[in-house]
Amino acid sequence: MEEYYRKRAPDYEKIYYNCEPEIKLANIYTAKLLQDYLSHRSVLEIACGTGYWTQFLSTTSKDITATDINKEVLDLAKQKTYKCPVSFQIMDAYKLAFEDNRFSAGLANFWFSHIPKDRIDLFLTGFHRTLRSNSRVFLANNNPQFLPDGRLVSFPKDENTYRLRTVSDGSEHYVLKNYYSVNELITIFSKHVENFNESNIYFDDYFWRVAYELK
Ligand SMILES: C[S@@+](CC[C@H](N)C(=O)[O-])C[C@H]1O[C@@H](n2cnc3c(N)ncnc32)[C@H](O)[C@@H]1O
Repeated sequence: MEEYYRKRAPDYEKIYYNCEPEIKLANIYTAKLLQDYLSHRSVLEIACGTGYWTQFLSTTSKDITATDINKEVLDLAKQKTYKCPVSFQIMDAYKLAFEDNRFSAGLANFWFSHIPKDRIDLFLTGFHRTLRSNSRVFLANNNPQFLPDGRLVSFPKDENTYRLRTVSDGSEHYVLKNYYSVNELITIFSKHVENFNESNIYFDDYFWRVAYELK
C-alpha cells in the first residue's frame, strides 16, 4: 500500500479533478463539513497525502500538523499554499510520535478504508491518545457504490478486501480497501467514542463521513 501511494503520488489528485459532477459536489460537501467542524483548532492530520484536504482545512483551523508515511506525497503537499501554519512530518499512523493530549482535533480522510480490520482498534487508540478532552475528530471515506475502475478481491482466511490497481509504470498492486455500512461504523466507533450513534455519520451514495467529539 505504501509503495502504491509512493508511485502514484504525481497522479493522485486526478481522482478529485477527473471525476463525475456528483462526486465533485459530494467532495465539496465533505470539505464544508470538516472546515466547520474542525475550525479554530490545532489539528493532527493522518495520512494527509498530497495535502488536498489540508488546503480546505487550513482556511478555518488554527494550525495543522500533517503526517503521512510517504516522503513523495509530502513533498507535493509542501508545494501547496495554506491559510494557516502547517507543518509536515513523515510518520506511520500506527506509531504516532506525539505526546498525549497534544492536539485539539484530528482529521483522517481516505485513510480508514486502508486499515486492516485487526488494526482498527490499535489505530483509534493511538490517534485518540494524542487528542485532549473535547477534541473533535473527522474522518471520511468511500462507500461501496464508489468502485469506478475495479472489483473487490477477497482471499481465504482474510477478513479484508482488496482492489487490484495499476499505476502509470504498469506495476500492479493489491491495495487493501475495506468498505463499511452505517451499522458497521457504529459498531467500530462505539468502542472508542461515548454515545456514538447514527447522528455522527454523514452517509451518501459515494462517501461516509464521521464526526465526533471526545470526552
Ligand atoms: C488514499 S490516500 C489519502 C491521502 C489524503 N488523505 C487524501 O484524502 O487525499 C492514503 C494515504 O495513506 C498513506 N499511508 C499509507 N500507509 C500509511 C501509514 N502506515 N501511515 C501513514 N500514512 C500512510 C499513503 O502514503 C497515502 O498518502
